[in-house]
Order: sequence, then structure tokens, then C-alpha cells
Amino acid sequence: MVKVKARFSQLVMPNDLNNIGTLFGGKMVSWMDIAAAKAGQRFLRGSEAAGCVTKAIDEVVFSEPVLGGDWVNFEATVLSAGVSSLTVSVSARAENSQGEMRDVCEAVFTMVAVKKGKDGNWEKVSHGKMAA
Ligand SMILES: CC(C)(COP(=O)(O)OP(=O)(O)OC[C@H]1O[C@@H](n2cnc3c(N)ncnc32)[C@H](O)[C@@H]1OP(=O)(O)O)[C@@H](O)C(=O)NCCC(=O)NCCS
Repeated sequence: MVKVKARFSQLVMPNDLNNIGTLFGGKMVSWMDIAAAKAGQRFLRGSEAAGCVTKAIDEVVFSEPVLGGDWVNFEATVLSAGVSSLTVSVSARAENSQGEMRDVCEAVFTMVAVKKGKDGNWEKVSHGKMAA
């Protein structure tokens, strides 16, 4: 079985920076959350889940600052699956204008498969999937 992965990239714009001029950590985590959700959505294809939501974010490590004008390339990998949950590791690599790459952040996301219940609220659902 092949591991489910997802990738996406973001250009760091002036609005993404903190007050010392490097990428704001909350922005980084929000982009990583999108990468985790993308992998989760791929993983859940064919299940009765409508999608997944973020339950927990663990082991967040910011290794190096990211600068305006860098690209950040995210790779999310589904590591394991529970009953309604799945664990997704996300790594972020910055790429400067010279094409130099560096590892800048990593985290582990727990996502939970959800569907809309009869009362209109989102509720967890067994996804019936196994990770590779
Ligand atoms: C996601 C949600 C529907 C889950 O419902 P719940 O009744 O709290 O579910 P549970 O406590 O049984 O947890 C669901 C799964 O997450 C796992 N889990 C719960 N807390 C966890 C934690 N701190 N770390 C890792 N996994 C956790 C449980 O073990 C369970 O896994 P399993 O079904 O594979 O065995 C509900 O908590 C929720 O709506 N949370 C808000 C989500 C949200 O708004 N996220 C931000 C926007 S995406």
C-alpha cells in the first residue's frame, strides 16, 4: 500500500510576517493545517465522511525563520488511522529566490472524520480506512 500524501506551496507575503519581519508562527501552523486537511480528504475518499476536522496539533517545532519572498513547500503524510481519527505528519521546507531549500517546521496533526448529523451538527464518523 502506498502512503497517502498531499503537497502544496505558499509564497510568504508582507501580511504573513510578525513584528520582527519573519513569518508569523500562527500563519505557518494554519498553512500546515491546510496541508493536513488535504491529505485527510484524500485519505477519506470512498468513506462516508464528508471531510475531516483538526482535533489536535502536537510536536510543533519551528527550526528556522522564514523570510518574506520565500516559498514554503508543505508535504503531509498520513501515518496512521484509528476509528474516526487519522494522524498526519506535516513538514515545511522554505525555498529562497536562489532555490536553496531548508527544513523550517514540522508537526503532527490528529484529524477526525466527520459528517453532518440529523440535527445539522458535524459529528465524528468511523472512516473504516487503514493507513499504509
Ligand atoms: C472532532 C469532534 C467531532 C470529535 O468528537 P469527540 O466526541 O470529541 O470525539 P472523541 O473524543 O471520541 O475523539 C475522536 C477521535 O480523536 C482522538 N482524540 C481525541 N483527543 C485527542 C488528542 N488530544 N490527541 C490525539 N487524538 C485525540 C480519539 O482517540 C478518537 O480517535 P478514534 O475515533 O480513532 O479512536 C469534536 O471534538 C469537534 O467537533 N471538535 C472541534 C473541531 C474543530 O473545530 N477543529 C478546528 C477546525 S478544523
